[in-house]
Amino acid sequence: MTVYLVGAGPGDPELLTLKAARLLTIADVVVFDRLVGPEILDMVAPWAELVDVGKDPNGRRTSQATINATLVDRGLRHSTVVRLKGGDPFVFGRGGEEALALEAEGIDTEVVPGITSAIAGPAAAGIPVTHRRVSSAFTVVTAHQDPANDDALNWDALARLGTTLVVLMGARRARQVRDRLIAGGLSAATPVAVIIAATTDNEEVRRLTLADLGVEPVPNPAIIVIGAVAASPVITRTLVDQHPSIAFDHSTTAPIDPAPVYTAPITTAPTNTAPISTAPISTAPINPGPTSEDPLPWH
Ligand SMILES: C[S@@+](CC[C@H](N)C(=O)[O-])C[C@H]1O[C@@H](n2cnc3c(N)ncnc32)[C@H](O)[C@@H]1O
Repeated sequence: MTVYLVGAGPGDPELLTLKAARLLTIADVVVFDRLVGPEILDMVAPWAELVDVGKDPNGRRTSQATINATLVDRGLRHSTVVRLKGGDPFVFGRGGEEALALEAEGIDTEVVPGITSAIAGPAAAGIPVTHRRVSSAFTVVTAHQDPANDDALNWDALARLGTTLVVLMGARRARQVRDRLIAGGLSAATPVAVIIAATTDNEEVRRLTLADLGVEPVPNPAIIVIGAVAASPVITRTLVDQHPSIAFDHSTTAPIDPAPVYTAPITTAPTNTAPISTAPISTAPINPGPTSEDPLPWH
């Protein structure tokens, strides 16, 4: 008997891992969450038991204790149980608690990582969470607790990081997130992207500035990306103005066309047309070229 804690990815069934897809076809029981779409559940064998433990923030809730008890019960009675969770099971998914509850009962547990919405949602919308010379790091936080009151996060520090901030579970607290970050010193003009129902047929991407975050209601589920990269995929004039270095390839000093990030061609000489040098390898001087910069505009 094994309970698999399986990540279902951000929504698009094709973003499920091969391992997750295989386990769904052989599971005796699948215990699933609200964010797991019907197309993914269609992969489950017809004889398997489906247990819906979805937690809807606007209504029905299944307590974590009930979910743990359900997993232990099924884990003791069946050989293959899949606990299917949106995104990655260990990113704000309480997967760690479920693993401990199963372990305490001596039930074998295996974690099957999933593609987290925190990275894949922005990526699918054309927003890189890191971007050379613009943002060298990203931080993923939850706004599940109230940033204005009982939050354990240091929002002042987050406001000063100068890197990309990805906020999950922030739909209902978007305004508090905005207020805490601006109070912490982050510019109200900072670009923001709100990605709703990422990678699904209902995906919607809203572009705004931090000043406007929470002015309009933010639907669930949503990923809130805060930082200069939120102005992607089009490298806007504003982004170039704020980060002039991204407009130039320093290895050639040629300006890079500020085209959409992922459509900018990477210029490499055609490999099959260059004559092959016959000079002895050991006598040819090695030209180190520009050492400080990668010729590729992005990483
Ligand atoms: C309980 S957390 C679980 C996160 C999940 N484990 C992951 O790695 O993506 C749920 C939150 O994830 C975000 N989320 C998950 N899937 C999403 C999607 N397809 N579109 C937008 N947001 C999503 C939302 O912020 C939502 O409130």
